[in-house]
Amino acid sequence: MKSKSLISISDFSKEEILQLLDRAKEFEKEPIQRILENYVIATLFFEPSTRTRLSFESAVSRLGGKIISFTDSMTSSVQKGESLKDTIKTVCSYSDLIVMRHPREGSARFASEVASVPVINAGDGANQHPTQCLLDLYSIFKTQKRLDDLNIMMVGDLKYGRTVHSLVIAMCHFNTTFHLVSPTELKLPGSVKVHIKDKNLKYYQYTDIVEAIPKADIIYMTRIQKERFSDPIEYEKVKNSYILTAEMLYTIKPDMKVLHPLPRINEISEDVDELPQAYYFNQAINGIYVRQALLANILGV
Ligand code: CP
Repeated sequence: MKSKSLISISDFSKEEILQLLDRAKEFEKEPIQRILENYVIATLFFEPSTRTRLSFESAVSRLGGKIISFTDSMTSSVQKGESLKDTIKTVCSYSDLIVMRHPREGSARFASEVASVPVINAGDGANQHPTQCLLDLYSIFKTQKRLDDLNIMMVGDLKYGRTVHSLVIAMCHFNTTFHLVSPTELKLPGSVKVHIKDKNLKYYQYTDIVEAIPKADIIYMTRIQKERFSDPIEYEKVKNSYILTAEMLYTIKPDMKVLHPLPRINEISEDVDELPQAYYFNQAINGIYVRQALLANILGV
């Protein structure tokens, strides 16, 4: 995996994913290892982030590496009209690896093509969020003790949800049955569904949230993302489509867990936070170990 960019979760084979999750387990046991002392990591966030940027930066710090960053393109020369290509070429000469989030789909692939160092896609528009996917897989494995033969229920914005797209593609390696819950306007796109069909896996589509809950091993809630709608009226129509409450979880599988990539708005009621099924804040912690493993593997240390 050394010196390879991570742009789409499809860039990693099933074996590479499993090997990375194994390595993440080692970092969970021993998170402080100064193996990146000679490395500089650039985090370029052209879109807001709390978990992805800070868990990457925490991962680098725990491994003894140095971080250079901008968290707001308004404070970089992009504001003066500099192209993404020139920005990336410049940052390559200051760093050994770039972590980039950008609002435009395909921007991370473009950056990796002009970069002389590996690029990790930290989210490109509504396309993919492969490192979130890896921590989601790690969280699913930790809570279910397996990745194979699970029923995954995905709820909310399946159309623009980049975390959903990456996770569906990855879970296709593991004989998953998908329960896809969304408003009609926000169904999973055909370009992602084709991965399910290619593997002849089962999937069911719903507009109602309660029907699939008793079948689910994992309920993966997502936010309806205001920033992805060009028409605010369309957002207003669907913004409160789903709110998962504690009351809805009366008939569930014994090990069922609720995941969410976060941030949440109102799609999980706070009364769920107190239940043993609520795993979303632990999920965010797992991001550190998975990102430590990813940095170490890509940099070959
Ligand atoms: N899950 C996720 O990408 O969160 P942030 O937007 O806070 O990075």
